[in-house]
Parts: sequence; C-alpha cells; structure tokens
Amino acid sequence: MNHYENQLVKSNHTRWVRLAIISVLLCMVIGAHWLTPVSTHSWHGIHLILRLLFFIPVVLAAIWFDLRGALIVALTTTVLYLPHVIIQWEGQFGENMNQLAELVVIWLSALLTGLLAGKEKSALLQVAATHEGAVIALVSALDAREHDTELHSLRVREYALRLGRQLDIGDHELGVLGQASLLHDVGKIGVPDNVLLKPDSLTEDEWRLMRAHVVIGKQILQPVSFLREASEIVYCHHEKFDGSGYPRGLKGEEIPLSARVFSIVDAYDTIVSKRPYKSEVAPAKARQKIAADAGGAFDPHIVEAFLAIPQEEWEQAGKVV
Ligand SMILES: [Fe+2]
Repeated sequence: MNHYENQLVKSNHTRWVRLAIISVLLCMVIGAHWLTPVSTHSWHGIHLILRLLFFIPVVLAAIWFDLRGALIVALTTTVLYLPHVIIQWEGQFGENMNQLAELVVIWLSALLTGLLAGKEKSALLQVAATHEGAVIALVSALDAREHDTELHSLRVREYALRLGRQLDIGDHELGVLGQASLLHDVGKIGVPDNVLLKPDSLTEDEWRLMRAHVVIGKQILQPVSFLREASEIVYCHHEKFDGSGYPRGLKGEEIPLSARVFSIVDAYDTIVSKRPYKSEVAPAKARQKIAADAGGAFDPHIVEAFLAIPQEEWEQAGKVV
C-alpha cells in the first residue's frame, strides 16, 4: 500500500470513528428525552436543556462531514425527535409549536455551519495544494540541473513515510518528513556545475563545496514558514549516528529523529539505484549493507524498524513513482 492508499485507509477509520461519535451522541440525547418525564415543571426545564444538546451532533457533523453530513444529522434528529414529541407531548399544542421552532433552528444551524465548514475546508485544501506545488517546483528546479533528482526525491519520500509509520511517528512529523524528503538536496542548486555534474571522483575542495548543500538547503527553506521545520531535517540529513557526518558532526540522538529516519532511506535508494558512477545493487544486498552500518552511519533502533518491513514492501514503495 503506498502513502496515499494508507492515508485513505486512515481517513476511512477516522470517518467511522466520527460517525460513531455522532450516532452515540444522538442516541444519548434522544434516549434522555424519552427517559425524562414530561409531567412536572422542573422536568420541563430539563427537556429545554436536552433540546439544546441536539445542536452538538449537528455542528460536529458540519465540521467533520460538511453541509451534506449536517443536513443528514438534522434529518435524523427530526426523525428521532418527532415520535417523542407526538407520543409524550400529545395534545400540548403550545409546547408542540416550541418544539417545531426548535427543529427549524436545528435545520438552519445545519445549513449555516455546513456551508461555513465547507468553505473553510476548501480554503485549507487550496493552501495545502499551493504548498505542495511550491515544494514540487523547488524539486523540479534542482532536477533541471541534476537529472533524475525528482524521481529520487519522490521515491525517498515514499520510503521515509513508510519507515516513519513503522516507528509510529505522528501525522504532523510525517508531513514534515515528507517535505524534507522531497527537498533534502535542494541546496545542490547552489553547488557549481563543475562539481555537481562531475563524473569523476571529487577533490577535497570540491567535496567541501558539495557538502555545503546542506547549509544552502537550510538557507533556502528556513525563510519559508511552512518549510521551517523541514529545513532542520534538510540541514541534518548527512549527519551520522556515530558522529562522523556533516555539517556539525552530531551524534546519536543529537540528530533529529526524522533526519535519522531519512538518512537510512536515502542510503537505501542510492544503493539500489543505478548512477553514472555505480551500478544498481539488489534490494536484499542493500538491506544487508544498511544492517551492517547500524550504529555507524545509522541509528540501530531505526535500522531494526527498517528491516522489520518486508523487502517486497520496499520494492513496492519504490515503484509508485
Ligand atoms: Fe544530500
């Protein structure tokens, strides 16, 4: 299952949980109406409060399911509430008129909150699409200079998200990890062509220029508010667990978790891919190489999680782009 399919399954789960919450709330409110006597004045006050509780599932439905959800809950409320009104409040005309007015207000609330929630959701989706577009534009800019970077970036995003989920990293952190995976080498835009595209091995001075890509990447991304967190991962993506990486030689847990996750999948994709300077390596062999570097370049705990994911899943994740 790729990232998008997983997201879909997850959002389906969330949808069912939300539906269950709304259904339970409705049942509780209607149950309380039936169980509360209608005879005395003080019980009547309780009914007035109970009627207000119908607004909670309606508003929740508007927020979670937009206008259609809010209207369905308003309809369900009407269907559930009417038998109570007709049977338990039979013959009390004045009271029946109040209850009818209450139902009208519930329908109006469903309509208004549903429309507002739908508007806000489409604005948020537009912002998310703009962010994604900006990230892809930056990756494409680098790809124009160093070909195949875009595909590598898309693949490592798939891998990083898969490994992140294996480690139970939260949704927000996964989002940031996804951005950082796409943009990890964006700083190479600032590396001169004679170094970036050199087919032979680099001199020490050229390596110095190449290593600067993590600093340049951070400088490019940090001023962009929605990429600020990702810029830290970009800055640390060549740090190594044993402290032998760059730019700061951070060690162990001094390196942000997402950067430790990313460095494993970046290495995996590089090992299994064909490059001008090397041929591709079989995934099984690549896994052995990663395992052999646990505690060296890579966090052993994360290597364990990496190896716990079946090889076929890694191969599948690499095919989505
Ligand atoms: Fe890099």
